[in-house]
Amino acid sequence: MAKILIAYFSRTGTTEKMANYIAEGVRFTGSEAVLKKISQLKEEGDLEGYDGYIFGCPTYHRDMTNNFKTFLFLAEKAGLEGKAAGAFGAYTHSGDAPQVIADTMEYVLKMKLVSLGSFKALEAKLKSDDPETLKACQDYGKAVAEMAG
Ligand SMILES: Cc1cc2nc3c(=O)[nH]c(=O)nc-3n(C[C@H](O)[C@H](O)[C@H](O)COP(=O)(O)O)c2cc1C
Repeated sequence: MAKILIAYFSRTGTTEKMANYIAEGVRFTGSEAVLKKISQLKEEGDLEGYDGYIFGCPTYHRDMTNNFKTFLFLAEKAGLEGKAAGAFGAYTHSGDAPQVIADTMEYVLKMKLVSLGSFKALEAKLKSDDPETLKACQDYGKAVAEMAG
């Protein structure tokens, strides 16, 4: 059974909502999902002991937030090479953060990324609990857990 860490930041709660649906998808596979806000992850050791990692941050000003950049430096020190990886984050229009995080996980941290593909979760759709968007979150969690397992 794989153990997956879902580490996220959310300013107004939408990315947090995505994180919860992604965790459901992980659990559908029988894997364990551990949800943590990045403020709870302070040392490299806090990132140890997982088979897969899914990082989430919303897009503000076409970028990830500064605290998330700092968190990625911590992840770099944690030695996550070869581990299953995924990225997500709420946004309204450009959605830059999840793609930049995914690229960092794949090319810098050398993790095995589950491509974002058509995985899109726009804020308005999440707020209206659009079933397709919820399912996209669940399916993404499932795909990372399957790669990790
Ligand atoms: C000041 C401000 C700037 C934003 N900039 C962007 C942006 O550049 N691109 C985008 O897609 N969404 C942008 N958004 C929308 C947020 O990403 C969206 O509200 C998201 O759901 C917030 O996620 P959170 O609730 O997890 O904090 C912006 C929102 C605010 C308030």
